[in-house]
Amino acid sequence: MQEFPITRAPASKPKPDPKTLVFGKTFTDHMFLMNYETGKGWHDGRIVPYGPIPMEPCAMVLHYAQEVFEGLKAYRSPDGGVQLFRPMENALRLKSSCERLCIPAIDPQTVVDAITQLVRLEADWVPSEPGTSLYIRPFVFATDPSLGVHASHTYLFAIICSPVGAYYAEGINPVRIYVEDEDVRAVKGGTGFTKCGGNYAASIRASERAEEQGYAQVLWLDGVHRKYIEEVGSMNVMFQVDGTVITPTLTGSVLPGITRKSCLELLKSWGVPCEERLITAQELFDAAEAGKLEEAWGTGTAAVISPIGEMGWEGRHVVVNGGEIGALTHKLYDTITGIQWGTIPDPYGWTVKV
Ligand code: COI
Repeated sequence: MQEFPITRAPASKPKPDPKTLVFGKTFTDHMFLMNYETGKGWHDGRIVPYGPIPMEPCAMVLHYAQEVFEGLKAYRSPDGGVQLFRPMENALRLKSSCERLCIPAIDPQTVVDAITQLVRLEADWVPSEPGTSLYIRPFVFATDPSLGVHASHTYLFAIICSPVGAYYAEGINPVRIYVEDEDVRAVKGGTGFTKCGGNYAASIRASERAEEQGYAQVLWLDGVHRKYIEEVGSMNVMFQVDGTVITPTLTGSVLPGITRKSCLELLKSWGVPCEERLITAQELFDAAEAGKLEEAWGTGTAAVISPIGEMGWEGRHVVVNGGEIGALTHKLYDTITGIQWGTIPDPYGWTVKV
């Protein structure tokens, strides 16, 4: 494993109360940084005290959003150790996001090594209360001091860590959602399959409107036909219809989620029929009204599995599984979180000790 030089923080900050952790508000003592410059490539990987990053006001990222990020977690296992969940998947997705945003890709093994070394150093920050973890946020952004619209010649790759509790206040309780029919988060040919900040910026207005109306999230439709379901909030989405799990296929505007992939692998290993295909809001609501929609849930790193209890679309309103978490949703949640926290065996080799 590559080792990077460490400049230690003069003192460790006080740790937050693990019982009242919220998502992404407190950060650990150190961060990882690495620079890119045309001609020199990625260089000078290092761990330094967590703190502000000086930047020119004209830095390209602030104007043209040439930026990508990742999200993964470190978990405290019952033996007191710390483990990561499929970190190479994140490193590979970061590479694919970089390529789309015209950012020089970082060697995936270097990304995994940097994450591992940082988490090792910050091991004391990995909480052990049930449901808590250390959220790891790698991100890459353009730093050229220039307002010309072109690929930057300089970039910074950074990794920060935040001890977290549940992402949604609802935790594993089913959420209410509706189909968003005005805004779209991404379009085919755009950046929907990447984890770039712009996708999330485009999603905020609809999320705000949903929250104002008492809904937790929106169900996104595709940007071309405005009829195929793509994602829910910032998560992938799955529906169990008549015994078969259906999830939107990766058309280019859908994020290739690692929790999505893990769920599909688990479901297939359990013999549950799965289909990755296009599904319209019409088909979904027709199935629900015919009593065939058994369960629905979102999948993502932050919330893991988020059951959907109620859905609205064009004046139609359906309740899923009586508004309760379904058996399959629960089994997926228990299995994935059990493997992540090391409370059940990991026959898939998904976890990596740091
Ligand atoms: C996730 O579900 O992991 C996300 O992508 C949400 C994150 C942007 C906070």
